[in-house]
Amino acid sequence: MTSDQREKVHLSGVKETLLLTLYDRAADYRSPKPILGDRWAAEVLDGIDGYNRFKMWLFSADRYGIVLRASRLDAWVGAFLVRHPDATVLSLGCGLDSRAFRLDVPDAVQWYDVDYPDVVELRRRLYPRRDNYHLISSSVTEPGWLDEVPDTGRPVLVVAEGLLPYLARGDVERLLARITERFVYGEMVFDVIGVPGWWLKPVPFDMWAGPDPHELERMNPRLTLLDDAPVMADYRRIPSRVFRAYCGLLNAFPQLRTSLWLLRFRFGPPERERT
Ligand SMILES: C[S@@+](CC[C@H](N)C(=O)[O-])C[C@H]1O[C@@H](n2cnc3c(N)ncnc32)[C@H](O)[C@@H]1O
Repeated sequence: MTSDQREKVHLSGVKETLLLTLYDRAADYRSPKPILGDRWAAEVLDGIDGYNRFKMWLFSADRYGIVLRASRLDAWVGAFLVRHPDATVLSLGCGLDSRAFRLDVPDAVQWYDVDYPDVVELRRRLYPRRDNYHLISSSVTEPGWLDEVPDTGRPVLVVAEGLLPYLARGDVERLLARITERFVYGEMVFDVIGVPGWWLKPVPFDMWAGPDPHELERMNPRLTLLDDAPVMADYRRIPSRVFRAYCGLLNAFPQLRTSLWLLRFRFGPPERERT
């Protein structure tokens, strides 16, 4: 593909961070021993131009955290879709992530990818169309976007990867409240950043650091914590000996292992009580 054929991207601030995660997944795919093996990331990255490759390369040194995070979330999403092959999935702050395409999504699943309008426009040009796959152009902090998702009574899975740490605490609280009030039953999976993770990132975070996952249960009593997994806990999957040792070291210290943390919550009644 020549430079003229590629989509020119002009993203800055928080939107630019979607390029970092895309770059990391593409680098993983092209490595001799991929963890995630996301071929879409490599193809989509090849289809864009106009971004700072040096900056991407520089920040991709810690790509293992990003791909381990994506891999764990894929596993949680995949397990939910096996239990609920008729689910609705809301993927918030989707960026150029390929989860809707790289996972084996059952035909009946209604999948909604949500991000800012210019990001969604870019996605439209880079990803194919598919039945039951929808794009919503909106900030997730706007109340109106949820009206685009019909409440069909199906179980709802909300995925937010690399999003909540960029939102203000009040916005997170309102977003979680809107979702849990609108849908009867579902799960939410997302990452939070512990204190040590803050200074590692290129864009300032507005949200609180999340050392205590139960804080979210207090914030929203409809949420029940089902699972919590520090990303570093999966460090044994890292093929590079140096980074495996480095991440293993981080994992050994409670304060450091929670620098990037994945949480899985239920909202609504437990599955066994549902008819
Ligand atoms: C770190 S990137 C993660 C992208 C994607 N989830 C991934 O893992 O590649 C953060 C994403 O959140 C999106 N984002 C940030 N704030 C947002 C908001 N208020 N509403 C919608 N999207 C938002 C950005 O545009 C960007 O795509």
